[in-house]
Amino acid sequence: MLIVAAVVAVAIGLGLGFLIPITRPDSVVSRPAIGGPFALVNQDGQLVTEKTFAGRHMLVYFGYTYCPDVCPTELQVMSTALDLLGDQSKGIDPVFITIDPERDTAEQMKTYVGHFHPRLQGLTGSQDQIKAAARAYGVYFARARDTGATTEYLMDHSSIVFLIGPDGGYVTHFRGGTSPEDMARQIRRFL
Ligand code: NI
Repeated sequence: MLIVAAVVAVAIGLGLGFLIPITRPDSVVSRPAIGGPFALVNQDGQLVTEKTFAGRHMLVYFGYTYCPDVCPTELQVMSTALDLLGDQSKGIDPVFITIDPERDTAEQMKTYVGHFHPRLQGLTGSQDQIKAAARAYGVYFARARDTGATTEYLMDHSSIVFLIGPDGGYVTHFRGGTSPEDMARQIRRFL
């Protein structure tokens, strides 16, 4: 036993964790537990849940409208990728979920999403609703360096674009810096 444990420890240490057989039978087919139920409000003040998007793909990004650089860049990449997909993008709903509901009201979201894709949905909600949605997607967020200012502050947050399938389950994700061409090419494989 000791030798086996030592070999396993060495394998992990070398980053060879994949060599260790996984015996749980469900591990082969299970997908990452990303996504799932949420209840939020869209830019028109309508209640939106995961069921709203059933049967369609979702391209989901968490961020906030006061973000000076990262969020607008990623939303632009998403929008361009959808444009590149042309007619194929019609079954994909782009969704922007705020992690700053204090400032990102439905009205604020409506103005903001209008700068990007015509079908981009901007979702907000209560702090608890946003926390639950972010947790479901494994998205981190926190107010950066609290300066005490109530209206001028930055948020730290994960910057990941998620592709969710028609069944509401995780399909794949894109890290910051993915080009629109690459995003479009990868999405096409799953349509
Ligand atoms: Ni941002």
